[in-house]
Amino acid sequence: MIVIDNAKDMRSRDNGKPCVLVPTMGALHAGHGKLISYGRRLAGKSGSLIVSIFINPTQFGPGEDFEAYPRTLDEDCSLCAAAGADIVFHPSVAEIYHEDSPEITADTKLIKTLCGPTRPGHFDGVCTVVKKLFELIKPDIAVFGKKDYQQLAVISRMTRELKLPVRIIGAETVREADGLAMSSRNRYLDAEQRAQAPAIRKALLKLKKDTTPETSARIKEAGDIIAREAPLGTITYLQVVDRGTMQEMQTIDRPALAATAVCFGKTRLIDNIEIDAIT
Ligand code: PAJ
Repeated sequence: MIVIDNAKDMRSRDNGKPCVLVPTMGALHAGHGKLISYGRRLAGKSGSLIVSIFINPTQFGPGEDFEAYPRTLDEDCSLCAAAGADIVFHPSVAEIYHEDSPEITADTKLIKTLCGPTRPGHFDGVCTVVKKLFELIKPDIAVFGKKDYQQLAVISRMTRELKLPVRIIGAETVREADGLAMSSRNRYLDAEQRAQAPAIRKALLKLKKDTTPETSARIKEAGDIIAREAPLGTITYLQVVDRGTMQEMQTIDRPALAATAVCFGKTRLIDNIEIDAIT
């Protein structure tokens, strides 16, 4: 495995082989590891698998954790090598952004719910960097986790809209044994917060299992579980949306997604669950 830190070398590695990209911001955990192994399988023996590690400043809002975001390049490279990556692309900010670099605006109904309203500009930053990575690396396939379901939806839409020649593939969320979705931010939780955090998964499972078609009753019950079992957490949102449009739903009459963001102190955790339409 090699590490490339500049755009010129990254461009010139194009060798005509099928190429799979797994974009990340580093601080890699076993969930990323599974995503990368999945990328390896998609690339096959003869294709190349590239993992980008770039903490993208434009997707962090003021007061978010850009400066404090964990930087663990050596461990990240070991994990990438073990998961079968051929190349780690680790550019500096100056290598990706120039003064007055154009920004892509996500500008879509998909960001009217969930993380959109509380993270203004976040998806613009995500689209901007992902488009740049696609143009530079020219992957045939890019893999994103369903843990960031809205991100996956926004990137799929951008790719479709701009007719970018890359296939977007979503991968299942990888969890700790107690159900907590793996996240680079879990390391910020103290012992008490960590012990309460699995209530998020428990609440979403209950929300899915309920039989009433009305979303409001399900949301109420799930919210109660989090309030009762994770009193150190504050719910930023807990919504049921249409899986295709990300618009809020009153009745589960089509494929839905229940998603939540819960803050433990400054640590914001997100999770979601797919729910089939009640027929
Ligand atoms: P990051 O948070 O590092 O996540 C990189 C990829 O790993 C994303 O596709 C994310 O959905 C996936 N991922 C994270 N935790 C996961 C888990 N527990 N199970 C499965 N997949 C998981 O998402 C970003 O970085 C950035 O926004 C990025 C797309 C790289 C653009 O900067």
